[in-house]
Amino acid sequence: MSVAASGGRGAQALAGLRTAARDCRACPLWKRGTQTVFGAGAAHARLLLVGEQPGDEEDRQGVPFVGPAGRLLDQALEAAGIDRRDAYVTNAVKHFKWVPAEGRGKRRIHQKPNAAEIRACHPWLTAEIAAVKPAVIVCMGATDARALLGAAFRVTKQRGVPLPHASGARIVATVHPSSILRAPDSETRSAEMQRFVADLRAARALLGVDAPAAAPIPT
Ligand code: URA
Repeated sequence: MSVAASGGRGAQALAGLRTAARDCRACPLWKRGTQTVFGAGAAHARLLLVGEQPGDEEDRQGVPFVGPAGRLLDQALEAAGIDRRDAYVTNAVKHFKWVPAEGRGKRRIHQKPNAAEIRACHPWLTAEIAAVKPAVIVCMGATDARALLGAAFRVTKQRGVPLPHASGARIVATVHPSSILRAPDSETRSAEMQRFVADLRAARALLGVDAPAAAPIPT
């Protein structure tokens, strides 16, 4: 069963925002990034997923979550019974922040966005939420959870617990898929993946959508 709403509200607003965000100069990250990586997905989605910032592949393709973290996210969504095409996926920061890897050719090393960069990008995220009007927002990682819930928020303490957001949506915070990719061994990775899928299932349950037939959780 789909987590999408019927109707097409917000599509026009999102198209306008996407065009305007191409020329955003609110922080210096546009100088390094190839392009603005705006959110993508169903304009009428009832579920909106937020990550931190685009990575290397996202920066090249201009689409969020299409690299390794995106592939893990796709597997977890499938296991949670969520069709990504019905959701809207975006990031707290819309440009890739990176530094060249010294002595390692053309590799670009991801750097965490700072508070000023997150603040500068926040109006785009707020506008996306206002256009999509999701019922549930999943924050993946501390950067976006703090952008929406305040600096005191701790994923370790409040993950998976539905919290209210000013838009009227409920927020479920969980870990960032990249943290699962960085797990030190396959046992930890598998346990972390199970917890991530459980958080996504909790978000899905908030939408009041029937539970899907149990899908296997990838290890
Ligand atoms: N990590 C993120 O937070 N967002 C992406 O789009 C890709 C990787």
